[in-house]
Amino acid sequence: MKVLEIIGEQELSGTIRVSGAKNSAVALIPAALLAMEDVTICNIPDITDINSLTEILQFLGANVKRASESIIIDPKTIKNRAIPEELSKKLRASYYFMGALLGKYKEVTMYFPGGCSIGERPIDLHLKGFEALGATVTNEGNKYTVRAQHLRGNNIYLDIASVGATINIMLAAVRAEGITEIDNAAKEPEIVNVATLLNNMGAKITGAGTSTIKITGVEELHGCFHEVIPDRIEAGTYLIIGALCGKILKIDNIIPEHIDSLISKLQEIGADMDIGDDYIIISKKDSYHATNLKTLVYPGFPTDLQQPFSVLLTQCSGKSKVTETIWENRFMHLPYLQAMGAEISLSSQSATIYGPTELIGTRVKATDLRAGAAMVAAGLIASGKTTITNIEHILRGYEQIVEKLTSVGAKIESKEI
Ligand code: EPZ
Repeated sequence: MKVLEIIGEQELSGTIRVSGAKNSAVALIPAALLAMEDVTICNIPDITDINSLTEILQFLGANVKRASESIIIDPKTIKNRAIPEELSKKLRASYYFMGALLGKYKEVTMYFPGGCSIGERPIDLHLKGFEALGATVTNEGNKYTVRAQHLRGNNIYLDIASVGATINIMLAAVRAEGITEIDNAAKEPEIVNVATLLNNMGAKITGAGTSTIKITGVEELHGCFHEVIPDRIEAGTYLIIGALCGKILKIDNIIPEHIDSLISKLQEIGADMDIGDDYIIISKKDSYHATNLKTLVYPGFPTDLQQPFSVLLTQCSGKSKVTETIWENRFMHLPYLQAMGAEISLSSQSATIYGPTELIGTRVKATDLRAGAAMVAAGLIASGKTTITNIEHILRGYEQIVEKLTSVGAKIESKEI
């Protein structure tokens, strides 16, 4: 079995360069099939989720070329057909092929997507959006077929400001006749990155990044060149690690505005940072104040940083409360922090963390992607050795995490045991 082994209590200094955003790239790649010509996307992170999406594109007959940090997708040879379950369930973001194939071919058959076990993760809002555009949805078990004679623009109100549903509806609506308005749309930066790609392909989308997005359908979309925005969650994860054990640790190639809520929370506990245009330099402080944390949709505190931040809260003096409002099962990392010595009391949607407590290395498990990142952060400050199993979750979303941390002084290695 492949594990990560960390010898803790090293001081990290130097520069970590943040890669392209996973949660943008995983939508941009399916979106590219909407074009009639080559689409080149640069700053693509080298993570396993990208490989899974490339596999689906190639299954559909697209020609895909991967260069170092970019991908060239030639959709001209695609033949629409049912995407098999073993491909659909490899990642949550496979569901973006629903919106893209429905938009281009007016029909798609695939299986309920995979993804971390952080909650039930329904797709009802996606399907309601497709139906509002004139499609019919049928499902046998977890096999879904969505088809439409014609796609017609409509007004769609999202009960929840869902990132996935906002993007998926956009992917279908760009080829619908007439105007679609998505209200209570999610406002995450990744949505703006996808809308910009589609507009570069000739779509007519306004309002991305606000809660009202307007899409005027077009007949055809052409090829283009596009760039993935920096990964704000990767950036935030390394910033938290810097607050835990950094000494003049520079997190480079970021968009600070995208992590305003994290920066403000770090300042609240007493961290001080040198914030540049596209970098932040942070050093560990001797002590931090406790605080309360509540996850919200963007621009609120991101749920994807709740788990790494909870490690920092074990080092804050006093009682901190964490409330998770987005996912119903996103505290699976806490029992492992308790096993390392953290003092935590847990209820269903909130946890109280008492600090500071010394963490002691032991064998822990990455239960999901960001829980795995939390285990890495904990291992970096724990005394002794921490062994993390199930690291495939971590490698799905953090490009070269071992190399990046080793380059700034961490004692971390990936090995077979
Ligand atoms: C995206 O997931 C991200 N994944 C998640 O990051 C992130 O946690 C989440 O947005 C929230 O920011 C990708 O972008 C690939 P949602 P998504 O639809 O789109 C409910 C990571 O660690 N909901 O915004 O699946 C849902 O149950 C991952 O990188 C419905 O009820 O999230 C949840 O409670 C984990 N019906 C809430 O909305 C639906 O049809 C937010 O989900 C869709 C969602």
